[in-house]
Amino acid sequence: MIKKQLYTPGPTEVPPETLAALAKPVLHHRKEEFKKLYFSAVSNLGSIFKSSGEIFILTSSGTGAMEAAVNNFTSPGDKALVVVSGKFGERWEELLETFGVETEVLNYEWGSSAAPEDIKNKLKGRDDIKAVFATLVETSTGTLHPIKEIAEIVENTPASFIVDAVSGLGCDVIKTDEWGIDAVVSGSQKALMTPPGLGFVCVNEKAKNIYRDNDRKNYYWDFKKASARLENSQTPYTPAVNLIAGLDQSLRMINSEGIENVWERHKMLSEAARAAMDKLGLEVFSESPARGLTAIKIPEGKSFIVKELKERFGIVAAGGQAHLKGKIARLGHMGYADKSDILKLIAAAGLILEDFSGLSAALKAANEIFKKYAE
Ligand SMILES: Cc1ncc(COP(=O)(O)O)c(C=O)c1O
Repeated sequence: MIKKQLYTPGPTEVPPETLAALAKPVLHHRKEEFKKLYFSAVSNLGSIFKSSGEIFILTSSGTGAMEAAVNNFTSPGDKALVVVSGKFGERWEELLETFGVETEVLNYEWGSSAAPEDIKNKLKGRDDIKAVFATLVETSTGTLHPIKEIAEIVENTPASFIVDAVSGLGCDVIKTDEWGIDAVVSGSQKALMTPPGLGFVCVNEKAKNIYRDNDRKNYYWDFKKASARLENSQTPYTPAVNLIAGLDQSLRMINSEGIENVWERHKMLSEAARAAMDKLGLEVFSESPARGLTAIKIPEGKSFIVKELKERFGIVAAGGQAHLKGKIARLGHMGYADKSDILKLIAAAGLILEDFSGLSAALKAANEIFKKYAE
């Protein structure tokens, strides 16, 4: 038997308590029990988004929530600035173009993170740019973008700021209200420890006014309808009731640990992973590594790493996407992940590479990080 474990940067492992909650009898979505559950899930999400704004839970994956944001916050013919440094920045660009928005793209090399100065320069004197779209963590490269700094810049312009935090929410720091982000999009299957199938959009007052005044035609993704229903802890259409029950359980676990502690745990895990990989001769790919995943360059002649992790040790990691296929491996440690998961990963990588002195140094390096955080 090989015990499989997801080390992919989404979907991720789901705690047993959440699996049990998912298996509970189906509630009717117009009855009191569901309203209570929905209210709880939305409130719990608020603590994680760090926002007192509206939060819509959508029956969709993260991309559906991105599409809903584009549909509700833009109109055909609008101009938008998009930060792109990987596959998910490109997704904003593709979605905006699909829905008739003219895009100006700030392209960065994959693995690099955005320079806030560039956004400042692009927006200077530009009243015609309606919105800026960016990504908290570019999952295709494991890169964190400086969202707080970009938000500060956008806040002083007429544009709104919309952030994809599908793989950052719940592991990297994001403070929606305090940083002045107008809308944040996320999904259930990453650091929120829930199976795929739910998308979220968190909306502040400015963004609320945008979708209220927006005349773009929308049906399923119409935030005006969603907002009217939300007042009564309801959704416009039948929601994914059991996923929401699972989500609420996972969110309770996150909030009982405390989101700041959860961020800190991910910081520790990512530092330990990077320190250990370095000792094994595996170079980190990103110049600004995220907390929820570590992307490493695959050394020449070692393309077997991802396959052997899975086949020999049940560690299901991800390879590279697009032109990075075969060039990087993406090791997820987000959500239901702790020190023992990192130790297993280090041990497996050391055995696969048959680098026993590297393995010893890697374990020592990880231990130093763990001890630092225990102080
Ligand atoms: C940063 C980011 N944005 C968007 C998405 C798309 O989400 P989904 O695959 O749930 O549609 C992902 C999924 O990996 C992601 O990592």
